[in-house]
Amino acid sequence: MPEIQKDLDAPEFAAGTVDAAEIEDSDEVLDLIEIDEKEGSLKANQDNPEAVSYSSPATNSFKASVFPVLVIDRQLMIIYANPACEKLFTGFSRLTGHYFIDVFGKFFDVADIRKIRETIIKGENGYSWKGETRIKSRDMVTVQTRVYIFPVEQDAKQPVEFEVLFDDVTEESKELLRAVFLSLLEASRLKDNDTGKHITRVGFYSRLLAKELYYSLGRQYPAIDADFIENISFLASMHDVGKIGTPDDILNKQGPLSEWEWNIMREHSKNGAFILSTYPNPMAKEIALSHHEHWDGGGYPFHIEGEKIPISARIVSIADAYDALRMVRSYKKALSHEATVARMMEAKGTHFDPVLIEVFHIIASDFNDIYEKNCD
Ligand SMILES: [Fe+2]
Ligand SMILES: [Fe+2]
Repeated sequence: MPEIQKDLDAPEFAAGTVDAAEIEDSDEVLDLIEIDEKEGSLKANQDNPEAVSYSSPATNSFKASVFPVLVIDRQLMIIYANPACEKLFTGFSRLTGHYFIDVFGKFFDVADIRKIRETIIKGENGYSWKGETRIKSRDMVTVQTRVYIFPVEQDAKQPVEFEVLFDDVTEESKELLRAVFLSLLEASRLKDNDTGKHITRVGFYSRLLAKELYYSLGRQYPAIDADFIENISFLASMHDVGKIGTPDDILNKQGPLSEWEWNIMREHSKNGAFILSTYPNPMAKEIALSHHEHWDGGGYPFHIEGEKIPISARIVSIADAYDALRMVRSYKKALSHEATVARMMEAKGTHFDPVLIEVFHIIASDFNDIYEKNCD
């Protein structure tokens, strides 16, 4: 088995849309700040951000908190991140010793950033701000979070330290969204008796292949990040949801379909794209629409070719084909794992993306494991 080169870099965080330079250079309000020297509070050396230590009466409670908490000073420099925060933002370059805006600025609207600064500097709303944001990096699944900023010392007349509390609502919103679309998936599963666990397996294979691409060819496929891998599993399982619109007598016909019936069957890709057009991730629609397109343009519905076919659909195309070949269908016998792989490799560069199919070849035995563990 060829060795897979892991060539992914640790994420780099460029300054956001609003950066510290802007704060320092252009905002008159900052000129008004006089940071109180507070004994034992902050010992930061801006030339050496690593040399930051922080302690405050609240530190122990922050340390134990299940909520991710940062402490920032009046210049919006992060002076403390509790363990929950370090965990939530794993993969981020060091938090403490960096400006909040440098690390998180790009995840907020400019208007929000302005408001945060005014809250802290001018004391608007009792030095408190709340909002929402989505925070992501290439190696981290997007975190959807409510953000609360308020003084560490509530009674202080002019607070010098502020708590930034992140309330992670990622799972909540993801579950809500998926619950809606899962019911749709169940409806399509009921209608298509032939499907069985096919859709579940296609989700598993697609995730596996995406993950392998991320680790082995990450630079070549920058679109494949932690979110992509997380999403493709669920969205690949919805690839045939458009079959909800295929007449039952065609969908469940015993024996081969006529050309006319195939044409109706092929409509499922466009129907799926229509059904998933409201899903708030274009990958859903891409997969439904293009999972039957071929690398050489010989697929359907639009005969698009090569890299014009979305990468998500090229992945699902391999996953779907592997499973379809392994399965018994009313019009065909099942193939063994070896025969399936051989058949698929023959279609390298015609049916399948030549690079992706080679990666599939490397991990094909894992496809077999998924098939055997999840067979009908
Ligand atoms: Fe399909
Ligand atoms: Fe399928």
